[in-house]
Amino acid sequence: MATPSPASSRSSPAGFVVGLTGGIGSGKTLVSTSLQSLGAAIVDTDLIAHALTAPGGAAMQPIAERFGVDFVTADGALDRQKMRELAFASPAAKRTLEDILHPLIRVATEAQAAQATKTAPYVVLVIPLLIEAGNWEKRVDRVLVVDCSSATQIERVRRRSGLDAEAVRRIMAQQATRQARLDAAHDVVVNEGDTQALARRVVRLHDLYCRLAAAGPHQGL
Ligand SMILES: Nc1ncnc2c1ncn2[C@@H]1O[C@H](COP(=O)(O)OP(=O)(O)O)[C@@H](O)[C@H]1O
Ligand SMILES: [Mg+2]
Repeated sequence: MATPSPASSRSSPAGFVVGLTGGIGSGKTLVSTSLQSLGAAIVDTDLIAHALTAPGGAAMQPIAERFGVDFVTADGALDRQKMRELAFASPAAKRTLEDILHPLIRVATEAQAAQATKTAPYVVLVIPLLIEAGNWEKRVDRVLVVDCSSATQIERVRRRSGLDAEAVRRIMAQQATRQARLDAAHDVVVNEGDTQALARRVVRLHDLYCRLAAAGPHQGL
């Protein structure tokens, strides 16, 4: 597991920030919802990215300019299926999309986190690709990884989205390895079926984060 970095190295203005990550289908949404019900504030970068590419979203004008109106649906949203196919086929297109989205996501994330800090003891930033985008580690005080086996990931995503196993494997191959995530983790939640054990673990983590947040930025880590 990683050695916690001093909070003072972090540039975000928000209070105590936990970065929650994990592979597709690992259970990030489930764990973040559980922490939220205990009192944590959740800022979900997936939801932010989704809003930016919804009809009228701030990313839609630059996307239409760079990729053409073919990538915009009739109601003005990003054509996700089409963009997913292009991004898989073309690393350059993927980078172009990321260059549009990442700065917008960053600004919205920091604004939401700063706002959330006013009312919650700590903030959970849900960042699916936290490890992949290494610089995010400087923005969080603590890395929480949701972990399960690859077989479980594939089964859950198949059930959730109807993608076949091969399509899920392709997405997983573009993400950090399970070991790379575990190496970066300060805390790990194992999510393999037994949701009662998961709930107990989440309560203990919530208590820990409340204590660390109360201890202030220069102590407790
Ligand atoms: N322990 C579990 N047992 C059964 N189903 C689960 C469990 N954890 C998550 N799921 C289901 O698997 C899917 C993926 O979980 P989710 O929390 O959305 O993962 P992520 O946000 O990491 O992609 C969801 O449909 C969720 O309801
Ligand atoms: Mg999710």
